[in-house]
Amino acid sequence: MENTNIAFIGCGNMARSLIGGLIANGVKPDKLSASDPDQAQRQALFEQFGIDTNADNNVVIKSADVIVLAVKPQLMHDVVCEIAKSLIDSSRLIISIAAGIKLDSINQWLEQPAAIIRVMPNTPALIQAGAAALYANEHTSETQKNIAEAMMRSVGTAIWLDSEDQMDSVTALSGSGPAYFFYVMEAMEKAAEGLGLNQEQARLLTIETAVGAAKMALLSSSDPETLRQQVTSPGGTTEQALNILMQGKLDELIEKAMAAAKQRSVELSEEFGKS
Ligand SMILES: NC(=O)c1ccc[n+]([C@@H]2O[C@H](COP(=O)([O-])OP(=O)(O)OC[C@H]3O[C@@H](n4cnc5c(N)ncnc54)[C@H](OP(=O)(O)O)[C@@H]3O)[C@@H](O)[C@H]2O)c1
Repeated sequence: MENTNIAFIGCGNMARSLIGGLIANGVKPDKLSASDPDQAQRQALFEQFGIDTNADNNVVIKSADVIVLAVKPQLMHDVVCEIAKSLIDSSRLIISIAAGIKLDSINQWLEQPAAIIRVMPNTPALIQAGAAALYANEHTSETQKNIAEAMMRSVGTAIWLDSEDQMDSVTALSGSGPAYFFYVMEAMEKAAEGLGLNQEQARLLTIETAVGAAKMALLSSSDPETLRQQVTSPGGTTEQALNILMQGKLDELIEKAMAAAKQRSVELSEEFGKS
């Protein structure tokens, strides 16, 4: 991957986190470039990482082996049509991180078969703790797949999906998932304040408990259910709290919430995936 030229279209949050991760993993800034109509975004990226930036998408992709589409889903159609001519007869890899935009839509907008990999990252990629899922189309080579996987591993964990349809489920799980945990943390912090802790104490203990539980779940050979049972003594305090959560059917609520997120992902595909 060190010798691969990678161009990012869009210099927003996700592009910045991926660029940061790649550089932290030894990719030289002169192998990276990025485009964005916003001068302030380009300047910020240049100052932070020393990479070449340009307002013109077609300029940055000129010598790129890999092109990362990192714009909002509603802009994907226009951006792909804009660069399509520059990609004629090229075997370059296109990586799309746009939520809900299908491989078929991108191929159609390019008006030619192309090697495309769809990736669903998440915001913890900003601190190299992301969880991403990838799906490649049939025009993608093994080398290109390895490059995409190495890119995503530079900012966290990466897994391959068996079918593109699974992307909507991944969006509902790891794409939107950080917000679910933040919401639970918000609620725990607020409840702890109500129980007499000050905000600083409540926040620190909430966050460290979340990190500790996540690390235990990651490093332990036991599944989350077993880990939960291990900290729930009969007649103890945890059991009291879990009884309330179970009576309130938290599991059903989570199921409903994720189904709604998946449905929205399907709708977005239909809304922004048209020509
Ligand atoms: N953030 C997440 O948690 C997350 C998770 C999974 C997937 N994604 C996907 O990642 C993609 C990028 O998200 P993001 O959070 O990084 O968005 P973002 O911060 O808004 O970044 C997008 C950037 O693209 C720029 N842009 C607008 N029009 C452009 C054009 N024609 N050519 C080139 N650049 C253009 C925007 O500039 P302006 O600000 O001037 O418009 C902005 O700087 C989205 O498709 C999203 O679905 C994001």
